Amino acid sequence: MEYNNFTIFQKLFDDYVEKYLQKRSNSDYKQNINLKINHSKEVFKHAVKIAETENLAKKQIFTAGLCGLFHDIGRFYQYFHFNTFKDSENLYHGQIGCEVIDKEKFFSDVDNDTIILIKKSIYAHGLISIPKDYSEEERFFSKITRDADKCDIFSIVAKYYNETEPRNVSLEYGLSAEPKISENVLNSFLNNFVVSKSDLKTLNDFKVLQISWIYDINFSYSKHYIRKNNFIPIILNTITDNQNKNKIINHLNKVWFR
Ligand SMILES: [Fe+2]
Repeated sequence: MEYNNFTIFQKLFDDYVEKYLQKRSNSDYKQNINLKINHSKEVFKHAVKIAETENLAKKQIFTAGLCGLFHDIGRFYQYFHFNTFKDSENLYHGQIGCEVIDKEKFFSDVDNDTIILIKKSIYAHGLISIPKDYSEEERFFSKITRDADKCDIFSIVAKYYNETEPRNVSLEYGLSAEPKISENVLNSFLNNFVVSKSDLKTLNDFKVLQISWIYDINFSYSKHYIRKNNFIPIILNTITDNQNKNKIINHLNKVWFR
């Protein structure tokens, strides 16, 4: 196994997602599938950069890259069959991703320990926190995957919030546009916790959730990337609950804008 050649896996990824792209012809469907294809490729790049910045060995950089490229492989099945990116208790795209990996046998040439690491990272990437029973190594690759994912989601949402029209309901999970931040969401944020998806009621809540990811960024590469691109001020600017927004800014002045 060559640990610096991603080409075979990029081809396997491209062939798999191309099938999903061809399944429907309407433009919303294609747009959302393409969004996830591009996202996966960006997360791949971020994961490799994080691994390189951490001076990891070739095989670890390779593992990190595969975690990134395949982390959302469950999204295509999810969107095709359920027409949503919204996870629920019995439909979590990290779980679907692990099932897709088993079924498609993308990694038939990869050693079993590495496949387990990749699947564990895929499983953990979208959870509010990494499962407690994970080993040190599983946590490490899960963190790389989570950071790389957040780097690109920040970039996608910042771009999206800067555009006025058209809205993409799939990116907003159908949340209400009322100018309010919910109490639980604000409290989590002010207590340095990542906001729980189950507390989301408004689009403003969702923006606070995204900002709260700063509490769960693990690597210097990701911190620099988020700061350098001004993602936090961009998201903040679009929050419409002014009173609570000021509380958030005051808190960010202590924990992030230093
Ligand atoms: Fe993702």
